Amino acid sequence: MSEYLHLIEKRRSNYDLGRNVTATKEEINELIATVVHHNPSSYNSQSTKVIVLYDLEHDDFWDLVSNQLEKIVAPERFPATKKKIEGFKKAFGTVLFFEDESITGDLVKKYPSYAQNFRIWAQQANAMVQYGIWVGLGVMSLGGSLQHYNEVIETAVWQAYDLDRSWRLIAQMPFGSIESAPNEKAKKIEGRMIIKE
Ligand SMILES: Cc1cc2nc3c(=O)[nH]c(=O)nc-3n(C[C@H](O)[C@H](O)[C@H](O)COP(=O)(O)O)c2cc1C
Repeated sequence: MSEYLHLIEKRRSNYDLGRNVTATKEEINELIATVVHHNPSSYNSQSTKVIVLYDLEHDDFWDLVSNQLEKIVAPERFPATKKKIEGFKKAFGTVLFFEDESITGDLVKKYPSYAQNFRIWAQQANAMVQYGIWVGLGVMSLGGSLQHYNEVIETAVWQAYDLDRSWRLIAQMPFGSIESAPNEKAKKIEGRMIIKE
């Protein structure tokens, strides 16, 4: 139990990520596959999909993000944006999280009385996959952060990876070695948990 709690405590938003990784890609892939495979989902719909990027694919992805942002960010602000993206690019790899809307759409048709819930449940299931991977990275002394460039990059991502347009982009998680510890963040449990016995 204490090991599990320790991993939960250890998970942080790590922005200073690098490539000093001793874990193998196979070990990282096994973590991600295990989380995706065993994650719960409403009606066991399994609509969460992921793409794992390493090496040049990882670099190309963050160049794609930068190129798309350059189209919408004011020129005077772009150098700061570019610097931030270059930070993500220094990481070892990236996980892209998707929800397959064709699956959710089928459920909406099949169970109309729950129609308004399926997209919410799909987002919840996707978040569980994100969290499982994020916490699990700690086992290999790796860290990550959660990014959401979704609307800005989705069309370019569909094109780059030749994806079905039903794969809606939900989040991006750059991950790698933790090059410096993140600042402490104030977190409270008081008032957030009620125990009745
Ligand atoms: C649903 C959700 C969305 C988030 N979106 C972003 C994001 O787009 N960019 C980012 O840098 N961090 C994002 N975060 C990370 C939070 O800012 C972070 O978890 C929070 O400040 C607590 O810090 P910690 O992760 O180090 O515990 C997100 C977290 C959650 C749960």
